[in-house]
Amino acid sequence: MIPQWIIEKKRDGGVLDDAEIRAFIEGYTSGAIPDYQMSALAMAIFFSGMTPGETASLTDAMMRSGDLVTFDDWPRPTADKHSTGGIGDKLSLMIAPLAAAAGLAVPMISGRGLGITGGTLDKLDAIPGYDTRLPIARFKDIVAAVGCSIIGQTDRLAPADKKLYALRDVTGTVPSIPLITASIMSKKLAEGAAILVFDVKCGRAAFMRTPGQAQALADSLTRAGDALGRKTAALITEMDRPLGRTVGNALEVAEAIETLRGGGPPDTRRLTLELTARMTTLGGIHPDLETARGGLAELLDNGGALDVFRRMVEAHGGAPGIVDAPHLLPRAKVVVEVGAPRAGYVTDVDALAIGRLVLRLGGGRTKADGAIDYAAGIDRLVQAGDYVERGAPLMRLHAATPPPPPDPSSF
Ligand code: URA
Repeated sequence: MIPQWIIEKKRDGGVLDDAEIRAFIEGYTSGAIPDYQMSALAMAIFFSGMTPGETASLTDAMMRSGDLVTFDDWPRPTADKHSTGGIGDKLSLMIAPLAAAAGLAVPMISGRGLGITGGTLDKLDAIPGYDTRLPIARFKDIVAAVGCSIIGQTDRLAPADKKLYALRDVTGTVPSIPLITASIMSKKLAEGAAILVFDVKCGRAAFMRTPGQAQALADSLTRAGDALGRKTAALITEMDRPLGRTVGNALEVAEAIETLRGGGPPDTRRLTLELTARMTTLGGIHPDLETARGGLAELLDNGGALDVFRRMVEAHGGAPGIVDAPHLLPRAKVVVEVGAPRAGYVTDVDALAIGRLVLRLGGGRTKADGAIDYAAGIDRLVQAGDYVERGAPLMRLHAATPPPPPDPSSF
């Protein structure tokens, strides 16, 4: 294989065959192909695109660059969901135990947050004692015993993606649908779930800003999953406004527990039910979406899903007591209310502004290895349609030191 011939073929709009793509990715992972040639190919893909067949080959090659977790012959169908990331998106914390309570096995490998977008792993790290770095064998044992487990990415899972993502980040080649698809799918497929449900966020605080872009990504993800033998579904959901009334790690865990108790903000509960219903119908647990919604709502209301969450936390070494006493989660030294400048209905809440505010409060990180304040964030956040009196709280800010007053006109 001559790397420059493959680059030239893609540059000129050609279709790469499976062997060419595999050889290139193997060479890049082993170090035989240098960063500059991989960058050139990524840029050629950015401009020339890839067919669904090429995207599937790229995904498969990247998936096979490291370890593969397998769940062959498991008694329960295995399923997972992936979100492209949003503000206040704590859905994995409810969906994993809810789907497990319904009868699926949920092996979930999640990432950390970067920039304004939070990561499930940081939320779990906010739970005292919860270990997100378990070996794969222990991860599988917990899935078998409890029904679900959420851990962090290991270096051995799709290492080609780790290397390529860092390169894309500094070569202007992140926003390419085939490259995003292969990046997301290689990690998800390596974790072994047979059913994958995608929550493709769309809006001003999302990776995909327009419905057209979100649809293209949703189509590409489901097509690649189907081509590689998985059952898939995708929902495109709004990310102009934050999800729920909390943003920030420990505060979001508390809201997730509230939702697992049958409460929680209606938008959070609704999306939890909709995404989990796709998983359970694809897994054959429920015959149709209507039955799934009803059955899953019951598991939120009768404590079935909360019980699985409690057992998952305990199996990971976390303090199960936080389920009944969320005040044991990390708490900020300073809590400040932001009052409404005048009475009226809230017409909009800008998820981008809220995400940036939480980052400034210390609840996010700007570098991959940056520190994070688990207690920092926002709660009691108003939602569009709420009525507020003059001076009534629009939100509460949680931080380690008194934050500068935010400008309410920006919300
Ligand atoms: N998330 C990923 O894991 N990869 C991408 O390329 C984009 C978002």
